[in-house]
Amino acid sequence: MNELTLKIENLSYFYENGDGINGFNFELNKGDFLAVIGISGSGKTTLINTILGILKKKTGNISIGDHIDISKISFSPQNQAIDWYLNVFDNIYMGALFSNVSNPKEITNNVIELVGLKGKEASDPTDLSGGQLQRVQLARQLVSESDILFLDEPTNGLDVIISEQLLTHLKSLATKGVTCIVSSHDLDVLEKFCNKVLLIEEGKQVFYGSLDDFIASYNEENEFIIEIYNPIEEKVKSLLQNKYNILEWFPLVVSIENEKQISEILKVLIDHDIPIQSLRKDKKTLKEIILDDHRRKENNV
Ligand SMILES: Nc1ncnc2c1ncn2[C@@H]1O[C@H](COP(=O)(O)OP(=O)(O)O)[C@@H](O)[C@H]1O
Ligand SMILES: [Mg+2]
Repeated sequence: MNELTLKIENLSYFYENGDGINGFNFELNKGDFLAVIGISGSGKTTLINTILGILKKKTGNISIGDHIDISKISFSPQNQAIDWYLNVFDNIYMGALFSNVSNPKEITNNVIELVGLKGKEASDPTDLSGGQLQRVQLARQLVSESDILFLDEPTNGLDVIISEQLLTHLKSLATKGVTCIVSSHDLDVLEKFCNKVLLIEEGKQVFYGSLDDFIASYNEENEFIIEIYNPIEEKVKSLLQNKYNILEWFPLVVSIENEKQISEILKVLIDHDIPIQSLRKDKKTLKEIILDDHRRKENNV
C-alpha cells in the first residue's frame, strides 16, 4: 500500500519562550502505523498539534494524499473533551453519528467493549474516574471511520490488557489502510504494533524510518552475551579485561571487533574450566535502545 497519506516538510513550531519543534520531515503511506517516541517534554504533543493545526504559527509544509477526505482525520488530544450532559453511551454514539458511519449503534457497542467500558453505558461522565473518562474520549475517536488517526498517549492510564487490546485494534485498522500516528511511552507494547518510528529529542527529529531499520541501526555493534554459571574470578577477569572490551561481567557481555575475538574469549573461559551455559548476540528492543541511549547521554554530560 504505497499510497501517500501525509507528507511533512521542514515543519517547525515555536512557543513564545523558544521551546517547540524544529525541522521535521517525513512521509506516511496508507496503512502505516507510526510510533512517535521521545521522553516527556521532547515535543511529541507539539508535533501532533502542529500537524493538526491546533498550534497555528507553524513554518514548513503539511500535505495530505489526494485520496484523503479531510473530514476523515481524527484525533484524540492529550486533554479530555467530553460532553458532560450526555451519558457514556451517547458520548461515544455522538462520535459515530458525526462521522456518518453506516452502523453507528453496532460500532459504538463494539468500541465500548474494546476500551473496557461495558456496564458503564448509562453512567454520567461526572461519575467516572480519570482513566475511564480518557477511555470515553478514546472511544469517541475510534468509532469514527478515519483515514488518519492521531492518538497522543492513548495508553496513558490504561491497564496492560486494555492497552494491548487498543493497539491490536489500531493495528487491524492499519491493515485495512488507516494511517495511525500514536505517541506513547509504552515502548514494549508499541514495538509489537508499529512499522515506523519517529524519535524526537529536544524538539528535533533524530530518527525517522522503519522499525526494522531503527532496531538494526542500534544493533550494529557486535555485542555478545555469554551466560556462565558462576561469576568469573579476578585472575581471569584481568586476563580478559586487558584484551577485550568487556561491558558486563555476569553474565559476561562483550563488544567484539571481529568474529575471531569471540572464539578467543571462549577459549580463555574453557582453559580456566569455566563452563559456558549459552552464547548469543545481544539484540536490543526498542525500549532498551531508548534507555541505553538516554543513560549514555546522561553519563556524558
Ligand atoms: N503551551 C506551551 N507554552 C510554552 N512551552 C510549551 C507549551 N507546551 C509545551 N511546551 C514546551 O515544549 C516542549 C515540548 O513539549 P510537549 O510537546 O508537550 O512534549 P511531549 O508531548 O513530548 O511531552 C517542552 O519543553 C514543553 O515544556
Ligand atoms: Mg505530550
